[in-house]
Amino acid sequence: MMNEFLKLYQQRIQEALTANLDKPGTPANLQEAIGYAVLGGGKRLRAAFVYLTCEALEVDLSLADSSAIAVELLHAYSLIHDDLPAMDNDLLRRGLPTVHVKYGQALAILAGDALQAGAFQSIADDEMLSTAHRIQLIHALAVAAGQQGMVAGQVLDMHHETVAATEEQLITMHRGKTGALIEFCMLPACIIAKADNETTEQLRYFGEIMGLAFQIRDDILDETGDSAILGKQAGADRHRGKSTFVSILGLSSAQTKLEQLTTEALKTIERLGSRGQGLRQLAHYVAGREY
Ligand code: IPE
Ligand code: IPE
Ligand code: MG
Ligand code: MG
Ligand code: MG
Repeated sequence: MMNEFLKLYQQRIQEALTANLDKPGTPANLQEAIGYAVLGGGKRLRAAFVYLTCEALEVDLSLADSSAIAVELLHAYSLIHDDLPAMDNDLLRRGLPTVHVKYGQALAILAGDALQAGAFQSIADDEMLSTAHRIQLIHALAVAAGQQGMVAGQVLDMHHETVAATEEQLITMHRGKTGALIEFCMLPACIIAKADNETTEQLRYFGEIMGLAFQIRDDILDETGDSAILGKQAGADRHRGKSTFVSILGLSSAQTKLEQLTTEALKTIERLGSRGQGLRQLAHYVAGREY
């Protein structure tokens, strides 16, 4: 039922990504690997967050297409590298063989590299945005993606395969590896709409909580989900001895934590009133998703 609601944004981002990836001069095998990684599936929740924040602040969606593309490309790159043998060593992603299984490790690494660069290019090339806004968005995405954000979280994730994390360390790790990019999704609309500091901070905080909630649900699904529905191998975290909300807190406390965060997220955007309806629906979806 929720997918009906998301469909509009999923179709919009699918078309935008398809157009974006078609760049002359790309070697054929790289073009194929990139298309496989990006266009073959994915819930597009990050793009939906970008667009729904626009709905909340009455920003024209076309002004946020380049940011939605950027965050989905960056996310796709992070998944390719996350699945590599040196990292999570996963064989299944979005219901298909992982990129390195299908195309080999070298091309998988390079496809990830190209997607990361392409993410920043998407915003840099967007002539609908002022130069100042483009730089602000590129900066924010770089911080979210890099050594203080997603990559930091991934490094902690690998570290806590061998050294069990405390709950506090787990939160830091999740905010990095998953939360930073989701938090970024709230920003394009705030920047483009020139939202006041209070609105921007509330939406940023909403994104922060949603990012953490998103990864807790991911940890729960890894434990309780079904590979065929997930489109990725269930039980992989336990198998690799990962520190997750389930391994550290147990299933029922992880579920309680998820519910608390969802309640807090909904409270944070209360003042958006009816314009925040889409974001509220997405928050419920994140907490209850089955894949
Ligand atoms: C999976 O993200 C990786 C995490 C950060 C938990 P998603 O569950 O959003 O993956 P897709 O894009 O829908 O495949
Ligand atoms: C992935 O976390 C985070 C990033 C890709 C940055 P996970 O390793 O838990 O994601 P899945 O479960 O493989 O999708
Ligand atoms: Mg991982
Ligand atoms: Mg993984
Ligand atoms: Mg996982």
